[in-house]
Formats: sequence, C-alpha cells, structure tokens
Amino acid sequence: MTILLLGSGGREHALAWKMLQSSKCTHLFVAPGNAGTETIAKNVNLNILDFEAIKTFVIQENVEMVVVGPEDPLVHGIYDFFRNDSQLKNIPVIGPSKNGAQLEGSKEFAKQFLVKHNIPTAGYDSFTAETVEKGCAFLETLKPPYVLKADGLAAGKGVLIINDIEEAKVELHNMLVNQKFGQASSKVVIEEFLDGIELSCFVLTDGKNYKILPTAKDYKRIGDGDTGLNTGGMGAVSPVPFADAVLLEKIETRIVKPTIEGFQKDGIEYKGFVFIGLINVKGEPIVIEYNVRMGDPETEVVVPRIKTDLVELFQAVANQTLNEITLEIDQRSATTVMLVSGGYPEDYEKGKAISGIENISDSIVFHAGTKSENGQVVSNGGRVLAVTSFGDNFQEAIKKSYQNIEKLHFDKMYFRKDIGRDLL
Ligand code: AMP
Ligand code: GLY
Repeated sequence: MTILLLGSGGREHALAWKMLQSSKCTHLFVAPGNAGTETIAKNVNLNILDFEAIKTFVIQENVEMVVVGPEDPLVHGIYDFFRNDSQLKNIPVIGPSKNGAQLEGSKEFAKQFLVKHNIPTAGYDSFTAETVEKGCAFLETLKPPYVLKADGLAAGKGVLIINDIEEAKVELHNMLVNQKFGQASSKVVIEEFLDGIELSCFVLTDGKNYKILPTAKDYKRIGDGDTGLNTGGMGAVSPVPFADAVLLEKIETRIVKPTIEGFQKDGIEYKGFVFIGLINVKGEPIVIEYNVRMGDPETEVVVPRIKTDLVELFQAVANQTLNEITLEIDQRSATTVMLVSGGYPEDYEKGKAISGIENISDSIVFHAGTKSENGQVVSNGGRVLAVTSFGDNFQEAIKKSYQNIEKLHFDKMYFRKDIGRDLL
C-alpha cells in the first residue's frame, strides 16, 4: 500500500517510523517531512494546505491512504475534500471531517459539545467584541486565576491564565477588541480554573468503535520546574504513573465513550485520532481541550509503545472495523526529551549542524525541525530532535534519554533537565 503522511515534525517521524514496520506499507511519502523522514521514506515538497496539489500528487503516485499529522489541513477540510471528489472519494483520509475538526478549531464548539454530551469540563461562557462588558462582569463572578481562551487556532498561544482581575479585563479587551490573536480571538471562552495535574488521553476511532492508546504527560514550559514561556512541548512520559485503573475507568466511561457516542448522535464523521487534554482534580478527570490529532512530543512516546501494526489499525479505522482488532501495548515506559534551538520559543537561529545522531543505539532519535543540507543534518525549527527511550519504569527510561543526549550536539542546543521529575 502506498501511503502519504502530511506533516514535518517529531510526531510525523514517529508515525512514519511505525508505519514502515508494517509489511502493508510498501511506499511511504511524507510531505514535506524532515531530515529524519527522508532517511526512511520519500519526502515530497507539497504545501499541506494546497489540496489541489495534494490531489494531483495522490493521483499521479497512486496513493492509497492519506494520514494527516497536524490539525491545520483537518480544520481546513481535507477529509471532506477527498470525500467530495469523484477521483479521491475512495481513498481513506485518517483524520476527522471538517465538522469534527472544529473540536480543536473552535474552543466554543468544543465546550458546546462537552456540555451537550454531559462530559465533565470547566464551567464557561463565551464572548465577542459586542459583549466584552458582559465578559468583564463574568470575570467578576469567578475566582482567580482567570482562564481566557481564543476561540480559534492560535498556534498554541491562545490561552492566557491571569491572576489579577484588572489585567484579565485588559487582556479580554486586547483579545476581543484589539484582535490580539487576529481572527482567532474574535470570540473568547472564559473558563473556570481547574487546579490539578494534567494528563493526556489518546483515542483512535473509526467513528463507531474506539481504541484507547497509552496515556502521556507533556512538559509545556521552556524552563525546569515548569517555568517560563509555553512551548509546543519539551518532553513526555508514557504511561502516566498516576493514571491508575480507577482513573482510567473514569476517563473511559465519563469521557471517551460519551465523546464517541456524541460523534454518532451529532452526525460527526470522525475517523482518526482524538487527543483529550485532561486535568485530574482530586481523582476526577475533567476535560480542558480536544485536539483532533496526536500530540507532539506525546506521539514520540505513545506510538513506540503500540505493538499492533499501525497500518492495520488505520485500515480498520477506514473500514469501521476497529472492533475486530486487538490493541497490544508495550508495558514498558517510554520517555522523550526535546532538544530545542537556543532562544525558542522566541527568536532562534536555524541551520546549525547537528552531530552525534549516529552514535546512539539504545534510544530512538526522532527528528522534528531538521533538514539535510549537502548531506549534513542541520536544525530547521525551534524543536529540533526528540530523544525517546524505553525502560522498565520512567526513571530508567529518562536516564537513558539523558545519557544519550550527551552524545548529541548543535550550537545553542537547549533541553529541560527535569522531565519526569514531578512524577517521582
Ligand atoms: P489548551 O490550549 O486549552 O490546552 O490550554 C493550554 C494550557 O492552559 C493547558 O495545557 C493547561 O495547562 C492550561 N489550561 C487550560 N484550561 C485550563 C483550566 N480551565 N484550568 C487550568 N488550566 C487550564
Ligand atoms: N504537546 C501538545 C500538543 O501537541 O498539542
């Protein structure tokens, strides 16, 4: 089977690596890919939002399945584009319909879905420029800190958590009236603050049946001790040690089942990953967000733990036969540490030569922001490499990642030294 994978991060390198372990995957294209996917698959220079160009490529290369890594093409309706095209309609796209992708594309849509289907989530209300004064009044009814969320996609920057009420009001104005996040903040969700520990639950669904994938915990801020600016994610651990059987049972019955049933009740076509961001508040899992894709760097710890053939799983998603497959999970722990460019998530330099990858044998080095230039791998983004390791527990796994990082080098390389420490 010829497969096209869209995306270029660590998530996509991990998905490509896993799909290539399947005898069913005979040809794999990655668009646009990175220096890591280039060594195992064929990179193609396609704009992942140019659906006509993707169509031409898919027809020309007889692509038989499209797997979508990031949310953008999904939110822009790549699933529907394929379904509504006479030449593409039989080619499965792994990812939700445009309607389903609104779970990530619109915070308000997600909140309405959660409330409608009785899924535990923080209390909220939403506001526009016309109702900004009502928004300020709503803030007065809440206790600090105040959570303000831009409704639309804002490259992971659209959530503000503010302690001071006056500052929260100013920011609400900035978002709604001064378009702080452009069109994405023309609507703002104000939400009750939840105090607890975050974890993420990943689900693969065919719209009817589902498989719960391993849990993971991400480390979002740039600095040790979870300080400083928010990033795409600086490391991850799977499974999450505090996600015991009791918590997992609550997550499945109160959150996962009603989510998938909600898709059916609302007529939402959904054949792909659901990434559910949760906060564990004193043993009670509460949803803070849906994403309609896998997480990055969570994929780099979740996917290596899946023993089942990933291409078979995707075929079952396409055929709505996921119930016929048994999901096998590696019981070991996996951890990943992201190596980033100095300065990230603010300004940073690219094009730094990366050395040492070939010296690592007992960790997996997934490429994120890299490209190859005259045979040399160089940095090409903020997050550059993810070093994933296995261990009988996460302490062992993380030790291996840190030992192997010693062998890697690029100018101004930075990483967090405390991944997993909060779980001890
Ligand atoms: P989101 O983009 O919705 O995941 O929000 C980004 C981050 O803000 C989350 O990972 C949480 O750390 C935090 N966050 C979002 N919503 C809440 C909430 N209601 N209470 C506490 N923290 C939150
Ligand atoms: N690591 C968080 C995300 O992928 O959204």
